[in-house]
Amino acid sequence: GRTAALIPAAGSGTRLGRGPKAFVEVGGISLLARSVAALAPLVDEVLVALPAGMDLPPGLPARAVEGGDTRQQSVARLLAATGADVVLVHDAARPFLPGAVVGALLEAVAETGAATVALPVADTLVRGEGGLRVEDVPREDLWAVQTPQAFRRELLLRAHAQARAQGVAATDDAGLVARLGFPVRLVPGDARLFKVTAPGDLALAEALTRVWDA
Ligand code: C5P
Repeated sequence: GRTAALIPAAGSGTRLGRGPKAFVEVGGISLLARSVAALAPLVDEVLVALPAGMDLPPGLPARAVEGGDTRQQSVARLLAATGADVVLVHDAARPFLPGAVVGALLEAVAETGAATVALPVADTLVRGEGGLRVEDVPREDLWAVQTPQAFRRELLLRAHAQARAQGVAATDDAGLVARLGFPVRLVPGDARLFKVTAPGDLALAEALTRVWDA
């Protein structure tokens, strides 16, 4: 079947403080262009949700859709704009996407219908209250969820429809599918898939480009 990559890139980048985040450059290439370049060779089409009034930079092999007020709305609009059998959702804010990760994810989604890239948690985890450590949280069985995430399109459409009907918000799409009661396969991710969120992440990304682009 056909596969579409859906890239929500309509965030305002408030925490980064550099304008719409997808257009911020590291190593001279925008976060968005990096994600598009990683995905375009591996899928049949690439759709990008952009902030209202913004256009795709020239030359990107992708189609633009106007984003919504939240990430979830932006993904819903992207979903409505494709007829692909399988959709792969990837945050523009995660510009370093190894091809092997996409390959493993697409194999997993062919089996289960829903899969997400995630990293086993390496740090000790605790719950804090008022700046004090109050409780240890066992980290066995805990994963940090990343993107990309892949789904049979019909399944993600149902998950978004239910979330809308119930007024539910989730920070990722696999969470909405899990809420429907469907299994979501965890595919080992990659530390390089970290999300560029705060100014310090930008310095890390800038440094990584020197290895990644070499
Ligand atoms: O804000 P955060 O970093 O969690 O956003 C994750 C991804 O969702 C980013 O790539 C951002 O551009 C996108 N997003 C969106 N539409 C929104 C808010 C965020 O496409 N309204």
